[in-house]
Amino acid sequence: METSTENFYDEMADDYHLIYSDWKKAVLRQGEVLSEFILSKFGNKNPEQLSLLDCSCGIGTQAIGLAKKGFKVTATDLSLKSVSRAKREAALFQVNIDFGRADFRSLAKSIAGKFDVVLSADNAIPHLLTDEDLLSASQNLKDKLQGNGLLVLTIRDYDSIVKSKPVSTQPRIFEDGRVITFQVWDWSEKRNIYAINHFIMKEVDGQWLTKHTKTTYRALLRQELCDILNKIGLFDVKWHMPEETGFYQPIVTARK
Ligand SMILES: C[S@@+](CC[C@H](N)C(=O)[O-])C[C@H]1O[C@@H](n2cnc3c(N)ncnc32)[C@H](O)[C@@H]1O
Repeated sequence: METSTENFYDEMADDYHLIYSDWKKAVLRQGEVLSEFILSKFGNKNPEQLSLLDCSCGIGTQAIGLAKKGFKVTATDLSLKSVSRAKREAALFQVNIDFGRADFRSLAKSIAGKFDVVLSADNAIPHLLTDEDLLSASQNLKDKLQGNGLLVLTIRDYDSIVKSKPVSTQPRIFEDGRVITFQVWDWSEKRNIYAINHFIMKEVDGQWLTKHTKTTYRALLRQELCDILNKIGLFDVKWHMPEETGFYQPIVTARK
């Protein structure tokens, strides 16, 4: 993983909601969909009975949505600025979440307790570029699970993305055209690694200001992640595609 990951999300924290056309709606929608999905794996238990660690919470998109649904949520992230914003957003959504800063490659040392569910959503794991880092994060996530607990990871559909290796995203337009965001993706020639250049353009007093931030991802294939989860001794590793779950990314689950 590049050391820039933390800086990228620190710099993005105040603008992160612009990734969504309506972030607040997305919080509630993702809470609904993930809650239904997770509860179906626990015999439709009451969410108040389930403890959940979101170990890449960012500004709280899933952590807040799931706390709204009644889960007992602890939420951590590498980026302190994202965690600080997530705290403010949780207060606005009127939910109680236990927040902390932690790198998911060293969760076992930095976070106390065990959880029924450990979640990392929206493509956080593919920030790890090497097998060593993926193994170490997976082992730390496993360590935070209770016996028979459920690991839930969501990542982009890289099995199809690598076939076309897209070089940009469609622009998103906000505030009557005065804020525009888009990304340019730079693929490395040899490996399935790409850099994301994230642009936010804002019109201020007739002038266009551009903010550019950059981070790196590994286009992690489903089989590669399965192999790592099997290797660390998790059971029942399964992929669930959007058609089955209603979530916008493939989800992999595994049991301790
Ligand atoms: C694409 S964002 C998703 C954030 C959040 N889940 C959401 O959907 O709003 C990826 C997140 O992973 C976090 N992250 C990346 N590497 C991490 C690491 N080694 N440990 C913990 N968090 C990490 C980033 O700081 C960022 O907040």
